[in-house]
Amino acid sequence: MTLRAVPGMADASDSLAWVAKAQRNHVLTSWSKQSGPDPLVVVGGEGCHFVDASGRRHLDFMSQLVNLNLGYQHPRLVDAIKQQADQLCYIGPNLANEARSRLALQLAELAPGNLTASFFTTGGAAANENAIKLARHYTGKHKIITRYRSYHGASAGAITLSGEPRRWPAEPGMPGVVRMLDPYTYRCPAGHPNPCPVCAGGPHLEEILQYEGPETVAAVLLETVTGTNGPIVPPDGYLRSIREVCDRHGILLILDEVMVGFGRLGRWFACEHWDVVPDIVSVAKGLNSGYVPLGAMIVSEPIRDWLRDHTFSGGLTYSGHPLACASGVASIEIMRDEKVVENAAAQGLLLERRLHELAARHRSIGDIRGMGLMWGIELVRNRETREPLAPFHAKGTAAAPVAQVVAAAKAKGVHFGAHDNVVRLAPPLIISAAEIDEGIQVLDDALSLADKATVP
Ligand SMILES: Cc1ncc(COP(=O)(O)O)c(C=O)c1O
Repeated sequence: MTLRAVPGMADASDSLAWVAKAQRNHVLTSWSKQSGPDPLVVVGGEGCHFVDASGRRHLDFMSQLVNLNLGYQHPRLVDAIKQQADQLCYIGPNLANEARSRLALQLAELAPGNLTASFFTTGGAAANENAIKLARHYTGKHKIITRYRSYHGASAGAITLSGEPRRWPAEPGMPGVVRMLDPYTYRCPAGHPNPCPVCAGGPHLEEILQYEGPETVAAVLLETVTGTNGPIVPPDGYLRSIREVCDRHGILLILDEVMVGFGRLGRWFACEHWDVVPDIVSVAKGLNSGYVPLGAMIVSEPIRDWLRDHTFSGGLTYSGHPLACASGVASIEIMRDEKVVENAAAQGLLLERRLHELAARHRSIGDIRGMGLMWGIELVRNRETREPLAPFHAKGTAAAPVAQVVAAAKAKGVHFGAHDNVVRLAPPLIISAAEIDEGIQVLDDALSLADKATVP
């Protein structure tokens, strides 16, 4: 077979430079202008490191998109996918298959409370889309309440559920989404009176319901702990108070644990930290570390029972894909056998300690927030005024003071994330203490750049 010549292929001779060029010219990449520099070409990985085409190893402190919880190329996980590929690569969703049934049983056992039936998707957005569609059908109501500092996916409905600015180009979006404020205690939108209605959750939700009419609201959908737009850890009592208000008004609680589920916060499910059980939970990412696209919405028994007599109006060609489910089964077994959740909890405590040590050394650090192995360092120009080092939704030069910290660390082979004025850390859950210290040392050096941008 001869390949049709395309621009960029001419130099596809003896190096991998063509790979970067082809990606830049022929692949549309996420959330960015398509005119950026050539991307790094990655040829492999192991544990918490990936390897670029020059053979250089990079320490990944973001688990790619906070999904690669078991790290790169976990041999048992790779093997499970190979074995399933040998046996059966695909079978339609309405026929039964061992990998799918096994994963469904595992989830029914692992998920909190009475969450026992799963609809499998190909990722997080599709799990949230199905969750709200089902909530609307089940309750006979149509509004969904979400929060401003949130991300729930990029598909047309999920991006409307998202409160953050990536929603703007997709507007006008899906009708019926109403947003509430976030329990962001460091910059409380209500000025944080004592008691604070926003940070307590329930009182603020009650007020929104008063204006919206609880009889029109199908569900409240929240990230249990805000990921990309945070981290924002809800104060103790917040989720319980939201749950109580939902129960009082016959509103479903949907928790989006796409980022924070499956050990990221040191428990299998993040809501276990506060003993709150939602009516539906959406998961993806860490469910199988993203080795094969997979997500799920897991619904409570009353909803599952209701669906016995009502049509579930959702479907996907790849729902419960055997390769994805086999990787999910193996991933859960690995996590149990290798005590991965326990490691996330233990290393999370070390990471938290190290971050507070950094805060003592760097005047640009305004706040340290997170849990388990998901942390953020909020950078400020001045600790007293809390003026952010980069403004909300900063782009270009406005974002530079934070971007340069992440770029300096990357130049030394350690990859962190950045969102507005927050440096993000979310390493694989298999990370060791030595790797945490290696990353922190690089970050320590890089933060001196941020310190230079502070004002007295
Ligand atoms: C909390 C949350 N929900 C949903 C999604 C969307 O998941 P996906 O990209 O798999 O559709 C993400 C992705 O980052 C997320 O962080």
